[in-house]
Amino acid sequence: MFSSFAGKHIVIGVTGSIAAFKVAGWVSALAKEEALVDVIMTAAAQKFVAPLTFASLSGRRVFDDMFAAEQEGTMSHIGLAREADCLLVAPATAQTIARLAHGLADDLLTTTILAAQVPVLVCPAMNVKMYEHPATVKNLKILKEYGYHVIEPDSGLMACGEEGLGRLPEWDQVSQFVLREILDKDLAGQSILVTAGPTREAYDPARYLSNRSSGKMGYAIAGAAFRRGAEVTLISGPTALEPPPGVTCIPVTTALQMYEAVMGNYQKASVIVKAAAVADFRCTEQHREKIKKDSSSLMMELEANPDILKELGTICEHERQLLVGFAAESSNIEQEGQKKLKNKNLDLIAVNDILSDASGFAVDTNQITLIDRNRTVILPHTSKLRTADLLWNHIVDHKLLKGN
Ligand code: CTP
Repeated sequence: MFSSFAGKHIVIGVTGSIAAFKVAGWVSALAKEEALVDVIMTAAAQKFVAPLTFASLSGRRVFDDMFAAEQEGTMSHIGLAREADCLLVAPATAQTIARLAHGLADDLLTTTILAAQVPVLVCPAMNVKMYEHPATVKNLKILKEYGYHVIEPDSGLMACGEEGLGRLPEWDQVSQFVLREILDKDLAGQSILVTAGPTREAYDPARYLSNRSSGKMGYAIAGAAFRRGAEVTLISGPTALEPPPGVTCIPVTTALQMYEAVMGNYQKASVIVKAAAVADFRCTEQHREKIKKDSSSLMMELEANPDILKELGTICEHERQLLVGFAAESSNIEQEGQKKLKNKNLDLIAVNDILSDASGFAVDTNQITLIDRNRTVILPHTSKLRTADLLWNHIVDHKLLKGN
């Protein structure tokens, strides 16, 4: 299985919050992905979860005592702070955040973080009133000034019965921020605009024209770009997907709304990836009332939507912006791709064979052919997540980013 965590060394500092139990699942997920996970527990954390839980899941001894000679023997706190790929404090209590903000080094965790020469990520988790208290707000601001990456907590019902900000986010969100810290930032400095999903063209209040796009490919491209260091804006038609963490999402419904959103945002982008399956036509008339089935046939008049990609091809400053299109084809993949690359004045096109069960709409895998102005590359059949990274590899490896 493709894993970005394989071979990475992650140190997780667990502090005294009920959310500590959730981190056991994170350690298990990391170990399954073949990461090396070392856990440091504060004394308070051990009142919530036994060190043995983390030791069993990580397959490694848990660090909990600064003065235990045998723990120092395996790896000193200075070694952890220097040799890990990153330090993640999760859950981080108000108390630990305050200690870190004031540079205290009164246990193994705070000492390790004070000595850190690697990225430090902090996941606050506490009661909403504690989180909003000016002291905590100030302390978190100090941590950000130190260069620590503070991951905003989720909102919702907490163990204390109150509702609000302060819940520890899920691993599928936090992992994206961790990956952004530990992977090569080969898209750092890039501002990337991605479109994804279908558009819906209303016919009457109950019905619309649309297509089978799930948005999975575009979301994967946006998420991968974020992990590789880019600032990412995702303009998305209606999908069932959660926006990738760290990505600014602009939801739209119709092709005209997508057009407006793209035109309002394309100028600040250095890369534009148009993975959306935009409806080519919309209903000329949108009925205010539901159409009744009182006749045996129905004529529907359609009018063309703007071809957003084609328009971008004419207005983009190609010396400054990389324009990437997608094409859904059912035959002559390469020839059709070449034709669209030229007709729409693109730098790169990713062509899908929509008749294949292994690629195209709604499935989790894809097999695309990449055509740029100098070469054609057939990517392997793999997950859409992996395909997204292969697309960025192609762009980076062939120096297609503008300014290269
Ligand atoms: N596209 C767009 N605006 C449209 C239609 C398509 O921006 N109104 C973009 C899509 O986001 C995609 C690319 O154009 O990046 C290719 O779409 P595709 O449906 O394959 O091709 P079309 O240009 O619509 O041509 P045809 O349907 O004739 O194959």
